[in-house]
Amino acid sequence: MTDTAAATTLRFSRLLLTGAAGGLGRVLRPRLKACCDVLRVSDIADLGDAAPGEEVQPCTLEDKAGVIALLEGVQAGAKRIVFASSNHVTGFRRQDETISPREPVRPDGYYGLSKAFGENLAQFYFDRWGIETVSLRIGSSFPEPRDRRMLATWLSYDDLERLVVSALTAPAVGHTVIYGMSDNRLTWWDNTSARHVGFRPQDSSEPFRAAVEARQQHIDLSDPAAHCQGGGFVKMGPF
Ligand SMILES: NC(=O)c1ccc[n+]([C@@H]2O[C@H](COP(=O)([O-])OP(=O)(O)OC[C@H]3O[C@@H](n4cnc5c(N)ncnc54)[C@H](O)[C@@H]3O)[C@@H](O)[C@H]2O)c1
Repeated sequence: MTDTAAATTLRFSRLLLTGAAGGLGRVLRPRLKACCDVLRVSDIADLGDAAPGEEVQPCTLEDKAGVIALLEGVQAGAKRIVFASSNHVTGFRRQDETISPREPVRPDGYYGLSKAFGENLAQFYFDRWGIETVSLRIGSSFPEPRDRRMLATWLSYDDLERLVVSALTAPAVGHTVIYGMSDNRLTWWDNTSARHVGFRPQDSSEPFRAAVEARQQHIDLSDPAAHCQGGGFVKMGPF
């Protein structure tokens, strides 16, 4: 893993990263700092001290006044949002299908349903006010794939950075939906309709296949989790 896997010539004066204390937020924090003069980081959880070039601004996103203050000097009157959506927007699609971001959604739970709402909201904000969003239907972004499903859905941290930087820097995106996966040999998603984002994943789950398959030797094909793209989420409650 490198500090900046994605080379970019475009530099931002300020970026805001919400959820910065979370799993992906901690991965992206130093990497996005490399793309901007000032990175404002926010969360309800502890964010630690500000690094050089950072502003730490805790906020709960339910607090309207707090959010308006958070956006001051960053995105008020602007520009582009990168929304962390999820593959669970289409989790009830089958694993033997290859689908495009333009096909109808089939959320596999309330989590996926809320992400579908977020995508619709992003489309509405573009149609009504011209605010651009790239909705990233992130697969499984972890240090390495943990099970057979993740051999298809894995997004390495370096490719996550490439995806976010591409989404921030592509010239015109309107509202674009794109699946976030590495260059995995087995895949369920076809991002051709989002080619203009310019995302070129460079990692693959393949080097992990033997270890994953040795760990998870048997698959129960009567289990919907084994043939739906959302895996275990399709039967998880109350999510
Ligand atoms: N990690 C993945 O593989 C993956 C896959 C699909 C989608 N996503 C999406 O990407 C985003 C980041 O994922 P993650 O794995 O880092 O999640 P995470 O749960 O580790 O981090 C989420 C962060 O958001 C903060 N947060 C929660 N509610 C908040 C609120 N009301 N106000 C302010 N901050 C709040 C939490 O404190 C936490 O630090 C999430 O939206 C998630 O749904 C992640």
